[in-house]
Amino acid sequence: MARRRQLYEGKAKVLFEGPEPGTLVAHFKDDATAFNNQKRGTITGKGVLNNRISEFLMLRLHEIGIPTHFIRRLNMREQLIREVEIIPIEVVVRNVAAGSMTKRLGVPEGTALPRSIVEFYYKNDELGDPMITEEHITAFGWASPQDIDDFLAMTLRINDFLTGVFLGIGIKLIDFKLEFGRIYDENGDVRIVLADEISPDNCRLWDIATGEKMDKDRFRRDLGNVEGAYQEVARRLGILPEGASLEAIDGDAE
Ligand code: TMP
Ligand code: ASP
Repeated sequence: MARRRQLYEGKAKVLFEGPEPGTLVAHFKDDATAFNNQKRGTITGKGVLNNRISEFLMLRLHEIGIPTHFIRRLNMREQLIREVEIIPIEVVVRNVAAGSMTKRLGVPEGTALPRSIVEFYYKNDELGDPMITEEHITAFGWASPQDIDDFLAMTLRINDFLTGVFLGIGIKLIDFKLEFGRIYDENGDVRIVLADEISPDNCRLWDIATGEKMDKDRFRRDLGNVEGAYQEVARRLGILPEGASLEAIDGDAE
């Protein structure tokens, strides 16, 4: 296969020019980073699993009417996506206190929040993705008040839906991060779509029965069995056939 032109390399994915204008190929790597790139490592098979998990969740969200950048999975590590203008905002939803919220506000990890809380962060690695408010977003022109209404409405629907999906497989959705992008059509109209990925890299997932962490916190905090946790999420979603090993499915990279 002719080598595609690489457009961008991020921490977990590489983006290549797609086969048609307005499309890109996202290649999922096994590289993992945490704490804004200070901790680096490899989670064997993560790219394969996140490609699959994100495909599955994006397709389910499409079915309930959430517009996404996902077109189709191409192979074990790659998916075809719509090219979007990424909005430089990370939208985090929290159902249970964990991670940075516990540090910032002193709320013990595991405290159920009285309602889901949405936070915004400015997507800027050099600045360490600082937390921002709607005021910053509109004042600096990153998004309009209408865009923010769209993010909030989509994010809360996604949260309700994914909470149910994970509950059905014995997993509690603690929090997660979303990114959105803009697509401009021929008439100059703009649409906001869900972009990036949804995977154990950007969700906190706890086993309901045991409380065990099944997400990137295992890597961030050196809890061990990171690969096993990602595989278990995929297995419960019905993506990894029962008993299949990653080695067995990671052969067809092209
Ligand atoms: P936090 O508790 O560290 O703020 O993270 C909240 C959620 O957002 C958690 O599910 C992990 C995810 N997240 C990312 O996907 N990327 C990031 O850069 C950060 C800081 C968090
Ligand atoms: N993704 C971010 C990083 O690379 C932070 C995190 O997920 O912990 O550093």
